[in-house]
Amino acid sequence: MRVFIGSDHAGFEQKEQLKQHLEGNGHDVVDVGTTSPDVSVDYPDYAEKVARAVASGDADRGVLVCGTGIGMAIAATKVDGVRAANVTDPEFAKLAREHNDANVVAVSGRFVPLARNEAIVDTFLATAFEGGRHAGRVDKIDALS
Ligand code: RB5
Repeated sequence: MRVFIGSDHAGFEQKEQLKQHLEGNGHDVVDVGTTSPDVSVDYPDYAEKVARAVASGDADRGVLVCGTGIGMAIAATKVDGVRAANVTDPEFAKLAREHNDANVVAVSGRFVPLARNEAIVDTFLATAFEGGRHAGRVDKIDALS
C-alpha cells in the first residue's frame, strides 16, 4: 500500500519509528516531514500535505502524528474526500475503517506508546470498509461542506 506519513515536532520521533515499521511490512511510504523534533512547526501544514495526497489518489492511506493526534485529524478532515480519525486504540482503528471508511489515521506521539500506535496503524491499513448500511452514512459525511 502507498502510505503518506507526516508529523509535527511533537510527533516526529514516533513518525520516524512508524515509517520504519511500515516499510518493514512492505509498504511504499512517502514522508512529508517534519524533519526534526527541535524546530516547532505547525501541524496543519503536514496534515494538508498528507490529506491532499490521499484526496488526489496519490496515496492509498495517510498516517499523521502530533502530540495528541487531535489537531492533525481536525485539519486533515477539512480536505474534501478525506475522512481522518484520531485513534488511540486498535479496536477503534478497525471500526474507523469498517464503519467510517476513514482514509487517514491520526495518532498521538506524546500520550500513546509506540507499540500501540504500530498496532493501530497495522489494523488501519489491513481493515476493509464494510459498505452496506455504512455506505449511505459515509456518503452523507462526504456531502457535508
Ligand atoms: C504541539 O504542541 C501540539 O499542539 C500538537 O502536536 C498537537 O497535539 C495538536 O493537536
